[in-house]
Amino acid sequence: MIEEMRKLLLSLVTFFTAASVSADDIPLYLDDNADIEARIEDALSRMTLNEKIAMCHAQSKFSTPGCPRLGIPEIWFSDGPHGVRMEFDWDDWTHAGWTNDSCTAMPALTCLAATFNPALSFEYGKAVGEEARFRKKDVILGPGVNIYRTPLSGRNFEYMGEDPYLTSEMVVPYIKGVQLNGVAACMKHFVLNNQEKYRDHVNVNVSERALNEIYLPAFKAGVEKGGVWAVMGSYNKFKNQFCSHNDTLINQILKKEWGFDGVMITDWGSAHDTYQSAMYGLDIEMGSWTNGLTWGVSSAYDNYYMAEPLKRKIRDGEIPESVLDDKIRRILRLSFRTNMNRFRPYGSFQTEEHAQVAQKVAEEGIVLLKNKDNFFPVAPGRYKKIAVIGENAVKRLTQGGGSSELKPKVEISPLQGLRDLYGDAVEFSLGYASGEPNYSYELPSPYNADSLRTAALELAARADVVLFIGGLNKNFTQDCEGDDRRFYHLPFGQDELINDLVKVNPNTAVVLLSGNAVEMSWLEDVPAVMQSWYLGSYGGCALANVISGKVNPSGKLPFSYPVKLEDGSAHYFGEESYPGVDGQVYYKDDILVGYRWFDTKKIKPLFPFGYGLSYTGFDYGKLSADKREYAPADTVKLSMEVANVGKTDGAETVQFYVSQKNPSIMRPAKELKGFKKVFVKAGEKANVEIEIPVASFAFYDEAERKWVVEDDTFTIHAAASSADIRESVNIKVKNKK
Ligand code: BGC
Repeated sequence: MIEEMRKLLLSLVTFFTAASVSADDIPLYLDDNADIEARIEDALSRMTLNEKIAMCHAQSKFSTPGCPRLGIPEIWFSDGPHGVRMEFDWDDWTHAGWTNDSCTAMPALTCLAATFNPALSFEYGKAVGEEARFRKKDVILGPGVNIYRTPLSGRNFEYMGEDPYLTSEMVVPYIKGVQLNGVAACMKHFVLNNQEKYRDHVNVNVSERALNEIYLPAFKAGVEKGGVWAVMGSYNKFKNQFCSHNDTLINQILKKEWGFDGVMITDWGSAHDTYQSAMYGLDIEMGSWTNGLTWGVSSAYDNYYMAEPLKRKIRDGEIPESVLDDKIRRILRLSFRTNMNRFRPYGSFQTEEHAQVAQKVAEEGIVLLKNKDNFFPVAPGRYKKIAVIGENAVKRLTQGGGSSELKPKVEISPLQGLRDLYGDAVEFSLGYASGEPNYSYELPSPYNADSLRTAALELAARADVVLFIGGLNKNFTQDCEGDDRRFYHLPFGQDELINDLVKVNPNTAVVLLSGNAVEMSWLEDVPAVMQSWYLGSYGGCALANVISGKVNPSGKLPFSYPVKLEDGSAHYFGEESYPGVDGQVYYKDDILVGYRWFDTKKIKPLFPFGYGLSYTGFDYGKLSADKREYAPADTVKLSMEVANVGKTDGAETVQFYVSQKNPSIMRPAKELKGFKKVFVKAGEKANVEIEIPVASFAFYDEAERKWVVEDDTFTIHAAASSADIRESVNIKVKNKK
């Protein structure tokens, strides 16, 4: 048996190193699972009450103790989700200062989503999992799959955009890639953590329908298709109950309906009550703020809700021990899958393969938003003097932002990437400065804004071309955990600077590094705009390759950009709908989030979901379906040709949206139900084939509490973005009578 497992493992490792895999091919476990349940029962039967209690809560900032007497190892956690975070002191938030914990920083999850490439997501997860394993971590705290509802949310960069289908498709291979290493992914933040403002107490009022159609699907996919081993609760409340111990969400939906057999972990400090933690589904309590809770006991961890207080309630008979046993079974299962999995590989760290994955994701995720008169690509030699202006050309954007901060071994800045390509043609000026990242307040910049601006304008005036590299950063109230952005426009005086730069040199393009949409009051005045994200260790190389044309951009936006904030669904309804009033936020946009809102309400976004230009052009052939009429259990087989009609090889993501003709209830104008990214050589054609289950056309019927596909005509659109439908086909759905 052991030899068979070893062979299987070896063949899997070779297989998954190959370029493209379908998520369905990836197995969930490497260990011989058959006897795990018996071993769990055996271990459980040997444990004392004290030993069990110890397993349910932290012993340090990032670990739980296992059961040393029985040889059950400690469980070690690490953030997540863009690489393995640096080490911390045992009991506080001080960086431990190790010299062997510098990781490969992957691009942020928004960038991964913008690739629309699930095979790359698998490679990404596998690389992060290998690094986590090498660093002796058992659980990686990610990926994050909360839905992008407002461009102000400070953590959108850690998530995968506004569409539940895209997010679901991208999260499953990530999880499988991580877990192939015997390292658990911990999908977060379950659920409705769609804003950072008031995150620690706000109660989210959302309809059952929106919960099921918009906010839950990615979590459900992660559990049912990804087989995720851990889930992290969010800080906020749902039904006035904290989400980390929430009967409806955890007991009823996650564990019962979806059959989740893994471990439910708090966000750090999101437990608030012993009885509720025990009874409403929480398995491990981490990070509780114990100051003020101490009763003179030696260790503060003893005062966690799931420590001594839980033991007392069990002893008093207020909470049955069977409830605790269920938690221990789950925790032991996690151990058998990770730190007691005899077949798990050893991992690897900072490898060339990881570097390649990081760079590939960055290159495929960058989105070209505007390109008048072929401003891009800027081929080497085309211009004598290239002015690079803007702080994000040099700022270390893997730092800050909260828990996703990283200490990468390599971080190639855009300026360095551009200098490597264009050499002495590049001259740099900072232009503006923002101050250092800080989690609780904004630090003023030590630079003088006027002199920075003057120097930048002087450089721009004598350059042949200007690349302004700005955007947001990881400072508090930018793309950062713990609070939201305060406004939609660019910070640190960048809008004014761009306006001035264009005046002295109209040949100025804007490159934005951010995890969020921003207002672009200057859009008409600049010839070109490129959306770059936080691109990780090799971001500078990736960006330079796209700018120069070595790589043809193929990223598509994973979220819509409103012209102004109030155009977006969350802000349209005022304060109650975002950020909430008196501790309550009402999702009045309901199911109409992102492009569902813009399309249905006929509001034109600045840039639509799914949008992104290429250095080549693509023509779509006729879209055909295999039949005209389907039953709800059928699959629609679609095919069409895509032709690359330009002079450059490139990739196109064909998006398939579905509209229902005469629904009995309000439905969005259309919804994404499939996509395919195809690489097509210049002048050639590719065949795009996709199968879409008719069941995915369903809406959630609140009264019946079930998914319903109605008898009706449905239109399937093949589109280059949510606002660029190229081809459509009508089909009929008939339920059997
Ligand atoms: C974040 C989590 C993170 C945890 C541990 C919390 O503040 O919300 O996403 O995993 O800290 O660092």
